[in-house]
Amino acid sequence: MRTTEAIVRLDAIAQNLAIAIRYAPGSKILAVIKANAYGHGMVEVAGTLQSCDVARVPAFAVAFFDEAVQLRDAGISRPILVLQGSTAAADVAEAAAKDFWLMLHDRQQVDRVLQSDTDLPVRVWIKADTGMHRLGLDVTELDSVFAALSAAANVQQDMVLCTHLACADDLENPLTRQQVKQIRPYAAKYKLPLSIANSAAIMSWPESHADWNRPGYMLYGNNPLGSFGSDHTGLIPAMTMTSSIMAMKEVMPGEGIGYGHGWVAKKQSNIGTIPIGYADGYPRHAASGTPVLVNGQRVPLAGRVSMDMISVDLSGQKNVNIGDPVELWGEHLSVDEVAACAGTIGYEILAGLTGHVPIAYLPCSKRPSSDG
Ligand SMILES: Cc1ncc(COP(=O)(O)O)c(C=O)c1O
Repeated sequence: MRTTEAIVRLDAIAQNLAIAIRYAPGSKILAVIKANAYGHGMVEVAGTLQSCDVARVPAFAVAFFDEAVQLRDAGISRPILVLQGSTAAADVAEAAAKDFWLMLHDRQQVDRVLQSDTDLPVRVWIKADTGMHRLGLDVTELDSVFAALSAAANVQQDMVLCTHLACADDLENPLTRQQVKQIRPYAAKYKLPLSIANSAAIMSWPESHADWNRPGYMLYGNNPLGSFGSDHTGLIPAMTMTSSIMAMKEVMPGEGIGYGHGWVAKKQSNIGTIPIGYADGYPRHAASGTPVLVNGQRVPLAGRVSMDMISVDLSGQKNVNIGDPVELWGEHLSVDEVAACAGTIGYEILAGLTGHVPIAYLPCSKRPSSDG
């Protein structure tokens, strides 16, 4: 059995959802659980968010159709929005039958829905590009798309208009206000519910709160604004990556550690080795000095990250023994701080978890009730 394990507190995810609701009590939540719920386990997270007494969501969002199918097959009953929409004609009838909502981000996807011969009408979200310039219909196309979808018998008439913010995590950037200002008149014109906000916008841009908000990162307890160390949001990191010291060694001044001797002892040092590496999702580019918690104390990473091991400098730590507990990130060490030491973001670390590390789930603390 591996001593490295990710512990996921499902109650924390439900409490983070409650925080997202508190930021914008007038908005419904579409919980973004793509990328295996940012590494936390899509089915387990969805099961919690549809039935935990602490807080519940009316619907989920994933990136791909296959993820929606996987959730349904696992018994998740709430509607699921497929953010990248359909890729094949057959998707439309299947979406209608399984209560998947299709994002329509280009004319081809709109036509695929219009031309489908689905028995049941399908529910769609219309995605407009207001500045992300990645996916989305140009706003000049919206009139004709809305008119066509409104007249189509195979489309449910409770459509949603949606846009995605490019710079919501940059509080100085005027683009967010411009995007909000651009999309709102269209929602008013078509009398459609609107969806704009991701986590950063929920937390920082009240003007973006609309009928549906779409939090992802914050549900997992991490601050999309990356302000680790001064976090007063109340968010609880749901995943704590744990391990233990597997070996210890004294090294003399001038001796190097690991591949390429990426760290060389300046004085006699006590080096601990921990069984997690880049094959598990620990970031390969984490620099020497990246914090790791051993017995709750911060110690620095020493040398390069190997495929399934890292080393830390335990010099100065008294009473460390083989088997002592390690936290790589989580409740006491922000994944964003670790990410910053590796030149990346916490999103990438979490979404990049490879599945090699087992996940132990701590259930939602309140008694789950039946899905309702
Ligand atoms: C369209 C869309 N909405 C919402 C989100 C959630 O974003 P965040 O995790 O920053 O809350 C994402 C994530 O990338 C997304 O692609």
